[in-house]
Amino acid sequence: MVSIIWLGLCYLLGSLPFGVLVATNFCRIDPRYQGSKNVGATNVARLCGFRYGITVLVLDLLKGFIPVWVAMQFSTSVIFISLTALAVIIGHMYSVFLYGKGGKGVATTVGVFLALSTTVTAWALGICLAIVYLTGYVALGSLALVTAAPVLFLLTGNFGYILVSLIIMALVFWRHEENIHRVLTGQENSWRCSSSEAT
Ligand code: G3P
Repeated sequence: MVSIIWLGLCYLLGSLPFGVLVATNFCRIDPRYQGSKNVGATNVARLCGFRYGITVLVLDLLKGFIPVWVAMQFSTSVIFISLTALAVIIGHMYSVFLYGKGGKGVATTVGVFLALSTTVTAWALGICLAIVYLTGYVALGSLALVTAAPVLFLLTGNFGYILVSLIIMALVFWRHEENIHRVLTGQENSWRCSSSEAT
């Protein structure tokens, strides 16, 4: 029973739409209706500027990090910790406060990975940044990050978290369906473009 209440709280925490809150309150733009129409840090940076994007990135990352870190202090159960991670990420992607809509889960996933393994997170982030730099597409970097994670958990002997990282990978790919389509048709927003071109 306690576990179910905890997972419900994690879902609610994940549901907090920091991208919408920051962008609407501080730059009077609702990211759900402009740019890529995503509520994540990338779109907020695109629409409101870098510092607002970073603010959302940090808040969404902490949203993933804190509950998983807390769960790890009270339990060694890989299943419980994995369910905590999934509850917060699913909350971000399908927010009760946004009527079931939400973000793509990348920053929250990075927070989750940071709690699970700093080594895996460091390598996955390095791969992500390299792909973003080489291609200009944040979405491709995000997909590379979640694809690298299960492999890195395997290579570092963190076998318990391979399954949850594969589920997270599938969820993040699912939420990037439109980005993948835009990349394949040459219409994806590139960070190399000016903000007017990008939106
Ligand atoms: O983290 C989301 C990123 O991968 C893509 O964001 O706004 O370009 O769809 P966006």
